[in-house]
Amino acid sequence: MSEDKHSNPASGNPEASGESQSRHPAASSLFEGHPINLGLLRQLEGESVLSARQFSKEQVVELCRLAGVLESLEIASSHPLDGKLVITAFFEASTRTRISFESAVLRLDGKIISIPQGDVTGAKKGESLSDIGEMFNAYGDLVIVRHTETDSMEQILQNLRIPLINAGNGTGEHPTQALADWYALLKWRSALARPDPGQKKRLHLGILGTPGSMRAVKSFLLLSLLFQESIRKVTVISEMADPFGADLIDDLHKGDIDYEVTNDIQNVLSDLDVIYMNSIAFLGDSYKSLDSRYKLDAESPLKQEAVILHPLSRLDELDTSLDKTPHNLYFSQAHGAVYIRQALLMAMAGRLDRLPKIVARTES
Ligand code: CP
Repeated sequence: MSEDKHSNPASGNPEASGESQSRHPAASSLFEGHPINLGLLRQLEGESVLSARQFSKEQVVELCRLAGVLESLEIASSHPLDGKLVITAFFEASTRTRISFESAVLRLDGKIISIPQGDVTGAKKGESLSDIGEMFNAYGDLVIVRHTETDSMEQILQNLRIPLINAGNGTGEHPTQALADWYALLKWRSALARPDPGQKKRLHLGILGTPGSMRAVKSFLLLSLLFQESIRKVTVISEMADPFGADLIDDLHKGDIDYEVTNDIQNVLSDLDVIYMNSIAFLGDSYKSLDSRYKLDAESPLKQEAVILHPLSRLDELDTSLDKTPHNLYFSQAHGAVYIRQALLMAMAGRLDRLPKIVARTES
């Protein structure tokens, strides 16, 4: 596949400018020499995406490979989402999720109806989410919803008949953030995408946060269980005695993964290969900063090769002094979100046939 003739002008690379040492690994290592299994991705056509639990490792890997193609090659001229109308309905604030979804749709020639806050809908007057869902059936082909309430997806699904993407529901889940997280990790270490990644370089994954209360952390942990043969151990660093909750403990036990919980960051930091951090959670009726005593900066004793992921937005737990260091994978994670969301939308909208012939070699 020649990248020169067809390279994607929309994908900027800050690393190439020499202004930053932050990591922006190339996407091409993910798909070169590997035909994308479009049959596996076609299973997503017309489906809703509500939880990280619904994906197989193979689907995540193929979505990431397709995202790598979309990041590397110019395919907008084949108008992949032409004629598709996507509604983004955000009843809770967002910088990255809403704007990267809207960018993803518009760059693929789809159309957007954007609801950036719930106050502009009938919800302000007490209209139920199930009634709003009934209306969405007539107004769009796919809807992306974020809401502060954990049961909001169930409410809207009562009457919804078009595919739904959960863009964050209270303390529930944020499954497309987890896809963006793993897209960044697979670009960083493409061997993780192999069916047999080998035993030598198994990762120690550190989570600074509370998976039971932080939806992005929860979805990341759930998707990480699919890659357990590449993970030596998960260490959760939290102020909470039980940072998981019963559901996640079940997942961890079923996943047969070695994990521990500690509140002593000094003991563990220098052994971590990947650090996933977050501090903000919407709890009850407002945003709360959990695990706020754990902070990282450029002086923190990290392994030389360690990378940091953060779904953002950040408070002072992630110091800006890390931004221009090779530990910074979080900007790659945020920038790559456009392409993994494009891959997901193309699969859900049944538009994989718009990929250039050279990409669309399928195994099934
Ligand atoms: N990662 C994430 O969900 O960011 P936003 O809240 O800005 O959408």
